Amino acid sequence: MSEKLIIFDTTLRDGEQSPGASMTRDEKVRIAKVLEKMRVDVIEAGFPIASAGDFESVKAVAEAVKDSTVCGLARATQGDIERAAEAIKPANSGRIHTFIATSPIHMKEKLRMEPDQVLEQAVWAVKLARQFTDDVEFSPEDAGRSEPDFLVRVLEAVIDAGARTVNIPDTVGYNIPTQFGSLIADLRERVPNADKAIFSVHCHNDLGLAVANSLSAVMNGARQVECTINGLGERAGNASLEEIVMAVRTRQDVFPCDTTLDTTQIVTASRLVSNITGFAVQPNKAIVGANAFAHESGIHQDGVLKKRETYEIMRAEDVGWTTNRMVLGKHSGRNAFRTRLKELGIEFKSEEELNSAFARFKDLADKKHEIFDEDLQALVTEEGTEQENEHFQLVSLKVCSQTGEVPEAQLVVAVNGKEQQGVATGGGPVDATFKAIESIVKSGSGLQLYSVSNITSGTDSQGEVTVRLEKAGHIVNGQGADTDIVVASAKAYINGLNKLIQPTDREHPQADQPI
Ligand code: KIV
Ligand code: ZN
Repeated sequence: MSEKLIIFDTTLRDGEQSPGASMTRDEKVRIAKVLEKMRVDVIEAGFPIASAGDFESVKAVAEAVKDSTVCGLARATQGDIERAAEAIKPANSGRIHTFIATSPIHMKEKLRMEPDQVLEQAVWAVKLARQFTDDVEFSPEDAGRSEPDFLVRVLEAVIDAGARTVNIPDTVGYNIPTQFGSLIADLRERVPNADKAIFSVHCHNDLGLAVANSLSAVMNGARQVECTINGLGERAGNASLEEIVMAVRTRQDVFPCDTTLDTTQIVTASRLVSNITGFAVQPNKAIVGANAFAHESGIHQDGVLKKRETYEIMRAEDVGWTTNRMVLGKHSGRNAFRTRLKELGIEFKSEEELNSAFARFKDLADKKHEIFDEDLQALVTEEGTEQENEHFQLVSLKVCSQTGEVPEAQLVVAVNGKEQQGVATGGGPVDATFKAIESIVKSGSGLQLYSVSNITSGTDSQGEVTVRLEKAGHIVNGQGADTDIVVASAKAYINGLNKLIQPTDREHPQADQPI
């Protein structure tokens, strides 16, 4: 029987560190429930000291999730560790993940600490965390650029202090597979008490090697991998969960271990994360891209029809791609609606919430006859983003666009409940709409990204629009969906503006240690 490979998902923590990918508490709980259904072993739900919102999110995930371990991140300080302990208290199984940097450059330039001080602080932090839970993980940040001799000393000391998992992060994505694999083998051999802890890895994708480095580490004895859905994460992202899990599952002939994940939940999780964060999945992305199982060339199609294995190494159904996905229509009732959403892991907190989502569903079903799971996911996300108490709300929009004429948008936006009108012309209907919104709101923000994709196929599909807005270094993503893509664009822009006005006093985990 092969050994267990622990999957530690950090979509809700490191994934959220992608610029503009911040998630609300309810969105985090929705994602966490899907991860739990997928049987992810550990869910890193956030960095509780970062802000009151982050603390509440970790706590809410700890309350909602029963079968996975819920983890909170903490720097090696008393304030961070106590806050993480408080946030994970409601969990059936809770973990504190504490870390401090060990590379020469981080110790000298960032922490301004001597190596011996860092070692002492690491041991102290692990002992403190152990007062709250037996399940403590320690990470020497920037291990990929740390001196192996120093790593050996630190790991031995933190394992002695009670760390059950020691995680080796390639924080800046600098390592390459053979070298990273050798580092793991070397540490496991040289740390005298290595057998008392699980070795984990956490790889960033700056050189596009996060998955390769993680798999090389697994070949060399790592038994926990930290990863994210769709490879979301700081800068170029983290190792992608779906690629790690499917590589290990598909190549059981070479890996001595396997995960216990229900891989059929992968596509649902991928869509949900993309839908909530506004980070689209590229069509040729392995496992979860729209083309991942599509065969274009005639030769391939012919081969697959004769025997699937000629060109397919995995079954689309095994990762959650289904063929018949039309789920609801114009005549579906409230019960069918509620039941299907429950199957997708979405439950309503009150009858009013259900009624309001159902009313939206009926509106959509009038415009679009077949409603797919993706439409339902978008509808619920929109339900969460279009709160009645939002500062800016789209009331109405009229756009004239005609060949040979300059497009013009007229709209009404409620600002704090007070309706205001805006009119503007632009290079196209979307440009005119955004300018009309700005004529009212005057946000002064820069549009960094505008993307539109169809949620399902067909010309009656809803268009899903993402905008990324930036103001004074604060970056947010706004989303909107509608069968009319100009309306979807206006909704996305307004959703972004509502996020932009929220205060950002969040602490970044990799900021200096407030010792
Ligand atoms: O990349 C990193 O080093 C991290 C640590 C907090 C584990 O995210
Ligand atoms: Zn990281």
